[in-house]
Amino acid sequence: MPKTIAIIGGGGRESALVDAYARSKSVARILVFPGNDLMQANTKKPVKTYPYIKTTDISKIVAECKKEKVFLVDVAQDNAVASGAVDELSKAGIIAVGPTKLAGQIEWDKAWAREFGKRIGLSQPALKICRSKKEAEDFLKIQKDQAWFIKAAGLAEGKGVLPARNNKEALEKVAQMQNFGVAGEVFLIESWLEGEEFSTYVFCDGKNYQMVGSAQDHKRINDYDEGANTGGMGCSSPPLVLSRELLKLVQTEILDKVIKGLSEEKRPYKGVLYLGGMVVKQGDQLKPYVIEFNARWGDPEAQVIVPGIKNDLFDISMAIYKGDISKLKIKTDGKARVVVAGVSKGYPLDYSKVKDKQVFGLDEAGKISGVKIYGAGIKVIDNKHYASGGRLFYIVGEGKTVIEARQKAYEAMSLIFVEGNNLHYRTDIGWRDVERLR
Ligand code: AMP
Ligand code: GLY
Repeated sequence: MPKTIAIIGGGGRESALVDAYARSKSVARILVFPGNDLMQANTKKPVKTYPYIKTTDISKIVAECKKEKVFLVDVAQDNAVASGAVDELSKAGIIAVGPTKLAGQIEWDKAWAREFGKRIGLSQPALKICRSKKEAEDFLKIQKDQAWFIKAAGLAEGKGVLPARNNKEALEKVAQMQNFGVAGEVFLIESWLEGEEFSTYVFCDGKNYQMVGSAQDHKRINDYDEGANTGGMGCSSPPLVLSRELLKLVQTEILDKVIKGLSEEKRPYKGVLYLGGMVVKQGDQLKPYVIEFNARWGDPEAQVIVPGIKNDLFDISMAIYKGDISKLKIKTDGKARVVVAGVSKGYPLDYSKVKDKQVFGLDEAGKISGVKIYGAGIKVIDNKHYASGGRLFYIVGEGKTVIEARQKAYEAMSLIFVEGNNLHYRTDIGWRDVERLR
């Protein structure tokens, strides 16, 4: 009998997951904590959202899942993983898909992740883990002048990573670590790697893993990769920088070691693992380096990868849970996808004046063939759409190539606007691969 399942999270990533689970013959109904108002638009199956339940309200989530006889919960969001959602749901006898709190430390503690990386021999930037400002000052004093990244070790909503162009700036950024509270008590000083970024996603069952796909994010708020860092303004997939040879190295030099290492250190990893990597040039060779790991799908990377998975997502989740992932053959549709984030003007800083402004054109844009719209900060009142956050919605275009996918996404975006000229989006998502293809 088809079952009730639940997802923890509320953004575009979880919208893509709702869309995929809804296509499963094993799923009858989906609950989402907290979810968003556009999720129901992607499926005819009932989707119930809980705007008043936060992703870290684990006891409330467990109670509701018991009450609603939920069969399986996909713990999709980082704070939920770090709060031990998988551990608590499992204790309550509910199937929870995602890493335990211990396995998720690879994301919620960057210092632990880098020490683990050293133990298992990963290629990563030279770095120093600091537990006080004094320790950082003493370290920087004896380093030659160079560019660094200063990073809070804990979760800081994607804001805890600060670039510094030289040692003087590094000292200033070190002083800012205290702004992140507990998350910044331990911090990292990493040498700045030059190269091209990508991210790769795998399904892991504790012992084995299967590759799913890769993407290339665009983190800066403005075109030409300028302005403040954001959670991601758009992605393309697959990223052409990852040649067959490089992808093989990603597997043998990074993923094999990580999954084996986590299992050997008694924190077997179950769920989706996100590798944030950088292709670095060494002499005339290209080599993948580790920038970070996340214990979940990326957002907006999920929006370009999940729609291309041809297997039933419920079956995949059950295989992860049972430790059977190697019995499945993960198939993807081979299409290229581009996602463009539509955000409130002012994001990632102050966008308060955009709250409650009307958003026009989403329905029309979603009717274009080869286009999907996923919501995040959108409220629906009387079938009209209103802004209710910084990251408003995502447009996903698909095609045979990144050029086609990009054209679809921007055709749809051209139909959308936010009252008072308050929509912001980047116009150059996928530019590296468009240039390569041209
Ligand atoms: P993270 O949250 O660790 O992914 O860092 C956010 C972004 O900062 C990454 O996507 C990279 O663009 C950049 N970054 C972080 N660490 C480094 C590094 N050591 N070298 C170069 N870029 C970095
Ligand atoms: N788009 C980056 C992330 O999900 O962390």
